[in-house]
Amino acid sequence: MSNLMQSDILQQLEDLRQQAITALTSTSTTEETRAWHSEYLGRKGRLTGILRSVGAVSPEERPRIGKLANEIKTALEEALQERQTAIEQAELEAARNKELIDVTLPGRPQTLGKMHPSTRTLREIADIFATMGFLVYDSPEVETDEYNFQLLNMPPGHPARDLWDTFYTTTPDVVLRTHTSPGQIHAMRQYAPEPIRIILPGKCYRYEQVTARSESMFYQVEGLAVGKNITFSDLKGTFMNYASQMYGEGRKMRFRKHYFPFTEPSVEVDIDCVICGGKGCNICKYTGWLEILGAGMVNPRVLEYGGYDPAEYSGFAFGLGPDRMTMQKYDINDIRYFFSNDVRFLERIG
Ligand code: PHE
Repeated sequence: MSNLMQSDILQQLEDLRQQAITALTSTSTTEETRAWHSEYLGRKGRLTGILRSVGAVSPEERPRIGKLANEIKTALEEALQERQTAIEQAELEAARNKELIDVTLPGRPQTLGKMHPSTRTLREIADIFATMGFLVYDSPEVETDEYNFQLLNMPPGHPARDLWDTFYTTTPDVVLRTHTSPGQIHAMRQYAPEPIRIILPGKCYRYEQVTARSESMFYQVEGLAVGKNITFSDLKGTFMNYASQMYGEGRKMRFRKHYFPFTEPSVEVDIDCVICGGKGCNICKYTGWLEILGAGMVNPRVLEYGGYDPAEYSGFAFGLGPDRMTMQKYDINDIRYFFSNDVRFLERIG
């Protein structure tokens, strides 16, 4: 009887092993292997169930059963471990495939812009004036009537104001600067009575009809030198040096008398046309000359407004328009491209 019991149980254990192994091979998810584990090896599982009947077997017979049971248990646990690893591997693979990035897909090309031609010209100008000791000075684009006009020797109602088509704001006496000249006053008031050598590059605004040749927003580069014994010769020498660095040695230059309320005397300065060399072309409107800047000796009254005693100090100032230069240099025929924000414009500039 007891022998039969023993062989019975041993048989049951062998059957269990077979069934368990077969069942394990058909599991395909971690959940299924968990369920399999509790069915066969769990506390209330089938292996435990079989071992419960060991009590009915004689003590001498028990060890064989125990040994086999342990062997099966270990074998099944190992098989489970193997199966689980395989399943995890497969699950990982599946997840990877789902999120797969196709590295063979060509990327979207980055559109690389270039430095804006206006910026390039401004930097070139600043570099040239730096060789003559001029600092770059920043001053605001929004100004008061006082700075834009009055302190530049244009009191309210002064007819010279008509030279600048001003954007007035809804705040009384606040305007968008029509030129960089108000920066002269800021700089003088900051530095007086020290000598000054600065350029002021920046945007200016005029209420103008926008055409291929004029925008209501444009650049100017102002220059200012103040000190003792500064003469018109210094102004001339500075421009000659500037023109030969910017346009090459041996430029011809001419000074035409002009009027600005904040300089006295005032001039406009031309160089021989860089395109036709003075022969006459459509760029220089067949005059052979290109106007490059307006300038003059700082008006004594403006020096005074800036905090300098005109009996002791003198200075020269100039204002040049880099936009026209940029257009010539890069063969740009419409000033509106500068602010059109079209990257193709930057791409086509060499
Ligand atoms: N501000 C003048 C203009 O806008 C240019 C200028 C600057 C002239 C400095 C003389 C001295 O036309």
